[in-house]
Amino acid sequence: MKDGLMDFEKGMMAINATAPYNITLQTTDDTPIVPGDIHINGRRMKFFGNCDYMGLQDDPRIKEAAIDAIRNYGLMQCNSRAYVSSHFYGILEEKMTQMMGAPTAVLRTTTYANMSAITLMVDSKDAIVVDQLVHNSVQMSAGMAALQGTKIEKIKHNDMVALEERIIELSKKYQRIWYLFDGVYSTNGDYAPHEAIKSLLDKYDQFYCYCDEAWGLSWTGKNGTGVTLEKMGLHPKMILVTSLEKGFGAGGAAAVVIPDEFRLKVVKFMSPVQVFSGPATNTVLAAACTSADIHLSDEIYTMQNDFKERVLLAQSTAKSLKLPLDHELMSPVMYVKVGDSAKTFYIAGELVKAGFFCNASAYPSIPNKLSGIRIIINRYVSHEDIKHLFIALSEIYAQADTLFGETDISATLQYTKTLDSFVHR
Ligand SMILES: Cc1ncc(COP(=O)(O)O)c(C=O)c1O
Repeated sequence: MKDGLMDFEKGMMAINATAPYNITLQTTDDTPIVPGDIHINGRRMKFFGNCDYMGLQDDPRIKEAAIDAIRNYGLMQCNSRAYVSSHFYGILEEKMTQMMGAPTAVLRTTTYANMSAITLMVDSKDAIVVDQLVHNSVQMSAGMAALQGTKIEKIKHNDMVALEERIIELSKKYQRIWYLFDGVYSTNGDYAPHEAIKSLLDKYDQFYCYCDEAWGLSWTGKNGTGVTLEKMGLHPKMILVTSLEKGFGAGGAAAVVIPDEFRLKVVKFMSPVQVFSGPATNTVLAAACTSADIHLSDEIYTMQNDFKERVLLAQSTAKSLKLPLDHELMSPVMYVKVGDSAKTFYIAGELVKAGFFCNASAYPSIPNKLSGIRIIINRYVSHEDIKHLFIALSEIYAQADTLFGETDISATLQYTKTLDSFVHR
């Protein structure tokens, strides 16, 4: 059977396995939004799956900017950017360039940005090495580069020994070797080994890197420029792509940072998704301009502290209750290891009954023995909500141990040793 069909079958198996628990493919009720809450099937729950982790989408200034944009300019300028772009693009790109401290282009989504930058910047004479946990949109884009003849390899998560060995070997045959990674991994919130990547960039001339920073923006760094720039700066041989949808609170769009104006122009003007697809909506662009102003002011540091306090509280509560965390890094994503898919679905389902909506991470997205509960810490949830979540989770976890038996949680997503069992996410 073809791979695609096998993936479809595995996906359907997971959907069927989760069906009794109301944790996948749900739809929210027609209820006005209360920040921090989600309403599904008549139940009001605390929402620990909200990727808008800085709580900026609810900022009255951002909402007003989006509403004003609709009033004055309509929902969107409906044409290809190959002909003409809304004035918002120019304003936003100037603000983002000022904020990121390097030439920055705005594209419609992070997936589009990855497709554009990877296929245009990587040559057929180059080789790509992907981290096994790098986001699906990066892996898809690497697949598109393979169609033009680029050599593609995959290494275990954060395995810098393997990366160096591949750089040395591939350099003999290929022009440039690109490492594709996430600054903060969306599955478990783990970081890339930034310092090690920087040393390799300095050591090997032919080595280049590409970072998807969708989860690193806003919550840390000068003007909220994220964990990767904070830890390794923008290396001349690096491309950075980040989302304006998640922490940035604009509801869409992405920023592409390339330290070279010419190469940035190539991505901005020559990418097929720029030429043949529509632009970001006026609401998104106006919201992003207002969010950029907030990032360029000192207010962002108050918001960062507020966010970080919640993460520290979540970690200390989880640890005091002896819940097995995959990592203890400052990050919007926490991961409580369960080690078995069926048990993970049960725990996520019981959390729903207890009034908390979290994400179950399980096979086929990740190997069965690495299944767990993914919790997104965001500024909408209160300190009390966080404590209540972990108390409920600890009780439900103990019940699950009784029902399903204790599972092996020694494996960790942080330094995964099992490459073959991974499917492309
Ligand atoms: C690391 C990462 N990259 C890219 C994306 C895709 O973003 P977009 O929806 O803007 O295409 C996501 C979405 O969740 C993500 O987590």
